Amino acid sequence: MKNLVVLTGAGMSAESGISTFRDAGGLWDQYPVEQVATPEGYAANPELVIDFYNERRKQLIAVKPNRGHELVAEMEKFFHVTVITQNIDNLHERAGSSHIIHLHGELTKVTSSWQPNNPAYIKELKPEEYEVQMGDLAGDGSQLRPFIVWFGESVPMIETAIDYAETADIFLIIGTSLNVYPAAGLLNYVPAHVPVYLIDPKQVPIVSGRKVHVIQKGASEGMEELKKIIVG
Ligand code: APR
Repeated sequence: MKNLVVLTGAGMSAESGISTFRDAGGLWDQYPVEQVATPEGYAANPELVIDFYNERRKQLIAVKPNRGHELVAEMEKFFHVTVITQNIDNLHERAGSSHIIHLHGELTKVTSSWQPNNPAYIKELKPEEYEVQMGDLAGDGSQLRPFIVWFGESVPMIETAIDYAETADIFLIIGTSLNVYPAAGLLNYVPAHVPVYLIDPKQVPIVSGRKVHVIQKGASEGMEELKKIIVG
């Protein structure tokens, strides 16, 4: 089977009712990014940040994967599929995708404030534990923090993601404005002969000038169309 590598962003989950970040009325209009998604914001007001992610977890319980997530999962019948997602939700998992690389962390996990990437301290929360409190501690005695890659932090999963991008036979991008690096640079590792498809209702500039087959639609409709093209 051929390798289908899928890079997804917030637009993948938009039809499930989760706001994107940079569209009008998006999350970064509602919450100052420097307060809720940087180590400095966390140091200044950990309670605000912990509450912000508690709210995101509460929302996770209320939403469901959309047809787009389901079709990405269905592609496993035809391809070796690797999903590289910038999303912190678990909608790809819940739709049935079995190989997912989370570049920016996972809402359902918490970790140590001192050593966020030490696997010994990363813990999956059960839904009844989704509300983290100040004073809840990681194994090393530090405050439990969300297992999220904030702006200015390293992206440990990028090397793994690059390895998959390099071995793609088909590369598919869904619902990302390609503003945030290193994720946005993954396309540069996709071999030149490999077809690249992009599903997004808006025009997304490709800075490298690489030729991309654009399907200018939302994730669900766009995936229906893509399926016809790559599966028949
Ligand atoms: N289907 C597909 N794409 C959609 C849909 C939809 N129904 N609705 C909106 N989009 C597109 C928008 O047109 C836009 O191109 O989704 C994209 C969302 O872009 P951003 O809000 O910038 O989100 P993303 O690219 O995932 O952001 C990357 O930035 O703030 C950080 O860490 C955060 O992972 C996030 C990263």
